[in-house]
Amino acid sequence: MTRWVDLGRVADLRFQPGAPVKVEGRWIAVFPLDGGYTAIDNACPHASAPLCDGTVLDGHVVCALHLWQFDLRTGACDVGEVWNVRHYEVRQVDDRLELALED
Ligand code: FES
Repeated sequence: MTRWVDLGRVADLRFQPGAPVKVEGRWIAVFPLDGGYTAIDNACPHASAPLCDGTVLDGHVVCALHLWQFDLRTGACDVGEVWNVRHYEVRQVDDRLELALED
């Protein structure tokens, strides 16, 4: 079952290029993408660098520390699927964002 969790007003999120948000104890990075928004876990699985601080190139975020890449649409890691991060759907409702959590 999908639950939509409120992330607050878009204008209040600090995109750098991802915006870090804490949802039920877990840090998640929200990114603008294709005119909307998407989200992945914020901690890089390699050495825990915050992916919100990476560089976005062609739908991927490049980790600032050792340059691993993660697909913003799926969370897939270019180094191997064992390193994939969790991906989350994000929707905009008026001036706020909501993130999908699967139970
Ligand atoms: S911490 Fe992200 S690639 Fe090393």
